[in-house]
Amino acid sequence: MEEYAICSDNISFSYADKPVIKNLSLRVRPGGHIGILGGSGCGKSTLLKILAGLYAPDQGSLLLAGRRSPEEIRTQTALVMQRSSLFPLSIRDNITCGHAFPEEKIWAACENAGLAHWIRQLPTGLDTPVGERGNQVSGGQAQRIQIARALCKDAPVILLDEPVSALDQDTGLFVLDALRRLTEGRTVVHVTHHRETLDDSYRVYRMEKGGLIDA
Ligand SMILES: Nc1ncnc2c1ncn2[C@@H]1O[C@H](COP(=O)(O)OP(=O)(O)OP(=O)(O)O)[C@@H](O)[C@H]1O
Ligand SMILES: [Mg+2]
Repeated sequence: MEEYAICSDNISFSYADKPVIKNLSLRVRPGGHIGILGGSGCGKSTLLKILAGLYAPDQGSLLLAGRRSPEEIRTQTALVMQRSSLFPLSIRDNITCGHAFPEEKIWAACENAGLAHWIRQLPTGLDTPVGERGNQVSGGQAQRIQIARALCKDAPVILLDEPVSALDQDTGLFVLDALRRLTEGRTVVHVTHHRETLDDSYRVYRMEKGGLIDA
């Protein structure tokens, strides 16, 4: 097994001429849990998109689950963001992203994400559309659909971008429960404004001036 699931050395990234990530280094062992706090606009989501293989760093090196190219890194990571990241398709398509997963696998993911009971009650079940930006499902359901997507993908590295910040407290607790089933045994980077959503398994950093410091 690789020594590190995430190994980034001095990575930097700019939008046009606006530097956001500056000489950032991060090492996370397989199964390690990292929390990242930090003010709005400091670059947390940008860092997650780099770790997800959506953007390539301008400088520095990133090795994730032994992969270097963004295309390969994308196969090793699952990103859970806010509801607006749902596609205007069915619940099923949002979970499978077009992969032909066996029906049992999809339902097992729905059970673990806490979605199965609700989906069984829908007249069109898994084929129910979620609407533009997920506006036909609740915030908690939208988050659980993304968790089911990540469970089906079965990627070793899970990237969470404020997955419960838009939810009321009770709904947030249910979603955190589903997240625990997703993150157990996997490498996790969890960006949040609420430190209390990170349990003792997390090593917590603060993002400042484009880098990470212990929080
Ligand atoms: N696609 C983009 N093009 C240009 N600038 C961008 C883009 N996305 C983000 N930025 C800028 O980069 C900086 C970092 O944005 P980012 O979304 O990573 O911050 P964040 O820490 O996630 O903030 P928040 O806590 O509000 O989600 C901000 O100044 C933002 O305006
Ligand atoms: Mg953000």
